[in-house]
Order: sequence, then structure tokens, then C-alpha cells
Amino acid sequence: MIRHLLSAADLDRETATLVLDTAGQMDAAMAGREVKKLPTLRGRTVVNLFYEDSTRTRISFEAAAKRLSADVITFNAKGSSVSKGESLKDTALTLEAMGADAVVIRHSASGAPHRLSRWVSGSVLNAGDGTHEHPTQALLDAYTMRHRLGRLDGLNVAVVGDVLHSRVARSNVLLLHTLGANVTLVGPPTLLPVGVEGWPAEVSYDFDAVLPKHDVVMMLRVQRERMNDSYFPSAREHARRYGMDARRMAMLPEHAIVMHPGPMNRGMEITPEVADSPRSTIVEQVSNGVSVRMAVLYLMLGGSRPEEV
Ligand code: NCD
Repeated sequence: MIRHLLSAADLDRETATLVLDTAGQMDAAMAGREVKKLPTLRGRTVVNLFYEDSTRTRISFEAAAKRLSADVITFNAKGSSVSKGESLKDTALTLEAMGADAVVIRHSASGAPHRLSRWVSGSVLNAGDGTHEHPTQALLDAYTMRHRLGRLDGLNVAVVGDVLHSRVARSNVLLLHTLGANVTLVGPPTLLPVGVEGWPAEVSYDFDAVLPKHDVVMMLRVQRERMNDSYFPSAREHARRYGMDARRMAMLPEHAIVMHPGPMNRGMEITPEVADSPRSTIVEQVSNGVSVRMAVLYLMLGGSRPEEV
């Protein structure tokens, strides 16, 4: 198993499949239990280091580590010595002194988890760094697709909207390519990254044309906090050209699903009607996130096997 999970590219097909299969076992192991806790990581310490706002990912990693019986320390940069100017390196040395077996980090700077991995002896898990990557989100998305549609190989997946600022898109493109799915990136030219031609994905500016051929449509949040207003004409125009609404949902094949990593801008990239429809996997993605993160922590920290507990 890999020591750190910094990028979806750290996972080859075999390892990624092992994570997804293990997440399935975690689900099964938890299903029969009244007390939702496995003793696999007893005595291990997992530190959650969140320098950027997060709801789902922070709670999900915390729940995953706790369900495996690890000791969990959640560190929020706000209210810590970070606001007194303490550097990432000094924080890392503090964690090291406390004997963290794994550090889960979210940071606004792309590359921060990579830096951290050089300073600590435990495993580092990237929970989202700047506009770079978010590998566990890609794993939970892949798990959700496989669970709903039965396979990943040959699946056609459209990733739509603000690709430029999306670490979710980047990690998904890499992981889905590894797992044999075909990805089409859809968005206005201003919200597609420079060099996108080099990514293992197709590009389209025409959302309507893409819909009938896709098994999965993954909507991305328009990340206004990372942009100035020159990226798109208006919220209304973006919704009209690249928003998922009932008309577009009706153009999808009958089995197709609609995904969103959250948090959503309801009414911008997705209408409430679509978000709350049976085709939407948004809530499932959140619960699958816990199982996938349990699998990652378990495999990386080498806990005892779920069937042995
Ligand atoms: C994403 C993130 O933080 O990168 N959310 C998440 O982790 N569920 C996507 C986003 O912020 O739009």
C-alpha cells in the first residue's frame, strides 16, 4: 500500500480497486452492527489539520477515523497558533512530537500536503489543496458510480462547470482514467484550465450535445471565492448554458445519474429539482465518503482486517 495519498495519480488501478473493494467491506461490516465502530485502528492517532473551511470532508474524515477506533485530534487553523503566524513546518514538528500516525490536511495552497509529507514520519492524506487535488473525493465519487451503475470501465462521465478552480475535477480525471472510464470536461473556455488538452479527457463547450451520451454527469460548484467576476458574464447566463435543470435531466439516458461534491449553489450550477431527484447521488456521496475514508485509513495505517474483528 502507498504511504501517502497526495494525488489521485498515486493510485494505480490495482490499488484504487483495492480501496473501493475495501470500502464495500467496511459498509458490509458496519451494516450488521448496532454500535457503528470497529476496533481496527485502536491506539493509532489521526490528526485532522484544516487550514481551509470544510463541512463534509472534515466531518467525514473524523467519522471515518472514529469508526475505526483511532484517537482523533481535529485542529482548526482558526483559533490556533497559525493565526499567530506559526509556519506549516513548525506545526508539522509539533504533530510529529505528538506521534501522529496519519495527518489529514486541507490547505488553500496547492502542494502543502506534499511539503508536509517531507516533515512528518506518519502518513499524509490530502483532503484538498488549493485548486490542485482532492483524491479521497475522487475515490468516493468512483465508489458511488460503481455502486449505482455496476462498473467503471467504459463508463462515460461528463464533468461540468468550473473545472478551472476544481481540485475535485482534477482528481476525478486522473482516477477515472486509471479505472478505464471516459471523461468529458464541459464548461465555458474561461473556466477550463490552460493545458487541458494534455489531460486524459475530451473537452466540450456544448452541454446539450454531451447529455444523451453520458452515464454520469458530475456538476461542479462555481467557486466564486477563487475568482473575480470576469470569468463569466453572470450567474444567470452560467445557469442557462451550463446549469443542470429538469430539461437537461430529461435528455440523459434513463439510467444516468447526477452527482455534485457539495457544497451546492442551488439555482446556479444545479436546480433544487435536480438536486433532490432520485437520480441525484449527492446524499449517497456523503455517506460513501465515510466508508471510502475508512478504507483508505485502514489500508494506509495497516489495521487488522475488517472480517477479523
Ligand atoms: C469540494 C472541495 O472542497 O474541493 N467539496 C468537498 O470536498 N466536498 C468542492 C467545492 O468546494 O466546491
